[in-house]
Amino acid sequence: MSNLCFDAVPVSPNVWWVGARDWSVRNFHGYETNRGSSYNAFLVIDEKVTVIDAVKAPFVPEMLARIASVIDPAKVDYVISNHSEPDHSGGLPEIIAATNPEKVFASTAGTKTLAAYYGLENITTVKTGDSISLGAGSIAFVDTKMLHWPDSMVSFYDRDKVLFSQDAFGMHLAASPIWADECDTAVLDYEARKYFANILNLQADRVIGLLDSLPGLNLDIKIIAPDHGPLWRQDLEWILNLYRDAAEQKYRKHALVAFSTMWHSTEKLAFALAEGIRAAGVEVQLCDLEANDRSAVMTEVARSGLIAFGAPTMNNQMFPKMADVLNYIKGLRPKNKIGFAFGSYGWSGEGAKQIAAELEAMGAEQLEPLFQVKYMPSAEDLCKMTEIGKKLGAALIERCQ
Ligand code: FEO
Repeated sequence: MSNLCFDAVPVSPNVWWVGARDWSVRNFHGYETNRGSSYNAFLVIDEKVTVIDAVKAPFVPEMLARIASVIDPAKVDYVISNHSEPDHSGGLPEIIAATNPEKVFASTAGTKTLAAYYGLENITTVKTGDSISLGAGSIAFVDTKMLHWPDSMVSFYDRDKVLFSQDAFGMHLAASPIWADECDTAVLDYEARKYFANILNLQADRVIGLLDSLPGLNLDIKIIAPDHGPLWRQDLEWILNLYRDAAEQKYRKHALVAFSTMWHSTEKLAFALAEGIRAAGVEVQLCDLEANDRSAVMTEVARSGLIAFGAPTMNNQMFPKMADVLNYIKGLRPKNKIGFAFGSYGWSGEGAKQIAAELEAMGAEQLEPLFQVKYMPSAEDLCKMTEIGKKLGAALIERCQ
């Protein structure tokens, strides 16, 4: 038994939370996690004692202590790995070593990933339609390929009606309560949308497919227990609807103006453009890339029907931070966007052209030609930008009707 003072938290009569809160993490593979994160793992007490998912490797002592607060870890019979990304599997080899389970379950792809990362062998593969009896209850599996990795699957414990949804319906949020209904709704809304935009947007169509398939699975879900952030026991429709809304990516009456600047020329253009968008009746968010990381910008992209990017040219290239951000956003494949490129230059002027090319590659509709100025914008240039902002704002309003 562990002598660490970490207790398991009850989730339902036979399920316990045995995960860890990571209050300090600020970078999740390039995603700025301003509010930390959590690695949720679960313990099911049935005739077959079962652990579902694990934690990052440094948190294993904490997870084992939480298990030990309920049952001797040596009594664990089964371990299920719903998702093998290292934030959930990093501690898995140690958990398996400490519990010596009779069986470890994963999807076919998960089996391969766990072998590649950790040399784990003798894993029992499961797929959609399979279920295992734990005694009084059973666990059914549903493949959720690419949500978030090829191996991803969810599992459902029918006795307590808990859906263990791994990355799906989660968010990077370290919070003292384990329940969403005990957290600030505005924080949940922002962090869930940020998570979707940065982790799942690329697979938005698959998310819609999953949401469409849930009623047909007849699971009678009472609790959704993701692997990050709080769990859902009340108003499950809130998070399901948020996911559907995010996945549908309809035009939204909101604009983003993101910019980099060297000597304030592009910044002046950005402010003038935003003024026009605002005057057209569209709420606009300005993001200086010095003050906003790529994941914050992507979050704004997701809620904006109009996305404008401006940067100076440096060494015949767009400013490096803009290149980083656009490359990242393009990979997440946002849909239904009006795009606009602008910038300033001193010598050659490739910056705005490269931004326009990136917007083209994203499939954004560029209703206005790119706009750039040499050295410093004149008063006339700034007025032109405001006029462009008004036109783009009006166009967005039309698309939102
Ligand atoms: Fe939370 Fe895709 O790992």
